[in-house]
Amino acid sequence: MAESGIKGIPRHVAIIMDGNGRWAKKRLLPRSAGHNAGMNRMIGLSERAKQIGIKYLTVYALSTENLSRSQDELEGLYALIKKYFSKNVDRLIDGGAALRIIGDLTLLPYDVRKVVEDGVARSPKDAQFTFCIALAYGARREIAEACREVVGKGLPVTEQTLSANMYTGDMPDPDLIIRTGGEVRLSNFLLWQAAYAELYFSDVLFPDFSDECLDDAVAEFSRRTRRFGKV
Ligand code: IPE
Ligand code: IPE
Ligand code: MG
Repeated sequence: MAESGIKGIPRHVAIIMDGNGRWAKKRLLPRSAGHNAGMNRMIGLSERAKQIGIKYLTVYALSTENLSRSQDELEGLYALIKKYFSKNVDRLIDGGAALRIIGDLTLLPYDVRKVVEDGVARSPKDAQFTFCIALAYGARREIAEACREVVGKGLPVTEQTLSANMYTGDMPDPDLIIRTGGEVRLSNFLLWQAAYAELYFSDVLFPDFSDECLDDAVAEFSRRTRRFGKV
């Protein structure tokens, strides 16, 4: 649980990207238009995060619970994910960044899974910036899976072995978790890793969450006092 090399800048920021549907509704557009706008904003924020010295940016793009949405909405989301990967991953990697995915990819259609795994496989191992996308992600599922892994390997069940066997095993815990879209809950996101994260809730709908909105969240983080249980 550390900060990045730059004073006051969180090392790991995680964003619950909520509000795409309401953004579209306000404009009398289909929900898919909101997801498209959200995906573009996600790309912009990853560039901003890298620029200001954040080392890890994790974005919640699709929860295990979201998999029960209509087939129509899910197919639109899968098409957007495939488009994102084919258009942006090379640029991300050429810029020295690494791509990571957390979640249970077996829950996704094979073509989506394949495109995602190819992007991850092409990522450098020693990147200065890691962009991590939570896809078909559920924290309870992750915790249950980590327990099975630890027991399966014959390891003692401790905080360390469980942490190491989460999807995020080799990443630091998030320092700052941002949720856009006005809801004040975690919706099954990084429940284990959030133990000492600073939480920041914004009413701004995700497609409108500008670079300046991210800067404001980081500035607020730098004003917080983290005690980790000490006095
Ligand atoms: C978040 O936006 C993106 C996903 C969950 C895929 P929503 O689709 O939940 O948007 P709202 O909450 O309906 O506005
Ligand atoms: C959380 O948003 C999941 C993502 C942003 C991917 P939801 O819109 O699914 O959350 P709830 O249903 O309002 O809790
Ligand atoms: Mg929502």
